[in-house]
Amino acid sequence: KMQMLKGAYMKIENSNLNVIAVRTSQYPNDGKKEFLLVGRSNVGKSSFINTLLGRKNYAKTSSTPGKTQTLNFYICNDEFYLVDVPGYGYAQRDKVTQKKFGLMIEEYLKTRENLMRVFMLVDSRIKPTENDILMYNYLKYFNIKTTIVATKYDKLKAKDRDKNIKIVASTLNLVEDDKVIAFSSVTKKGRDEVLNIIKEALDEE
Ligand code: GTP
Ligand code: MG
Repeated sequence: KMQMLKGAYMKIENSNLNVIAVRTSQYPNDGKKEFLLVGRSNVGKSSFINTLLGRKNYAKTSSTPGKTQTLNFYICNDEFYLVDVPGYGYAQRDKVTQKKFGLMIEEYLKTRENLMRVFMLVDSRIKPTENDILMYNYLKYFNIKTTIVATKYDKLKAKDRDKNIKIVASTLNLVEDDKVIAFSSVTKKGRDEVLNIIKEALDEE
């Protein structure tokens, strides 16, 4: 029965890049619920947003890491925000910039009361990195609800699919209730599952 409802459950009908921020005083102050994306540079955060919004390259993407440089608040259905951020672990980036981006995300995570959930993106093709593990542990330290999204699933050979998802879960050593969603911005796999998770969070009082 749930299968029949799949896809019709929630849709993002309208969206707009409302706010671009680098510090707290610039964040939206309308109190709407927020969902944050984190993950390594080039893992597919901006592509993930486009897939949820049903728009092509609205959130700017690039085959070169380091595209997103600010906190970008996308208002969706006038109801909630998806927040895109710079990626971590981009080796070619200078140390000062790296540090600045890290602090920007840390400041957000520490202060944001209307943050409902983090979508932490990892590349389904590779074992989560040291930085991924640090980020996950950081989120858990602050008791932030987290969903792991394993991106670029379309690039996996059929024989690797289940195995790689298990490796993601075991390497991050997921706490109970946190789960991994296989995702592809090419085939849209995982999109409805993510939208359902957002819907559930919006329905909480
Ligand atoms: P930064 O802004 O640098 O942190 O990167 P990002 O995490 O926002 O990555 P972005 O969405 O810009 O995607 C990086 C590259 O991966 C682009 O060339 C995308 O087209 C590609 N890509 C992202 N998601 C997928 C996917 O699910 N499948 C495939 N095949 N390619 C993807
Ligand atoms: Mg990006």
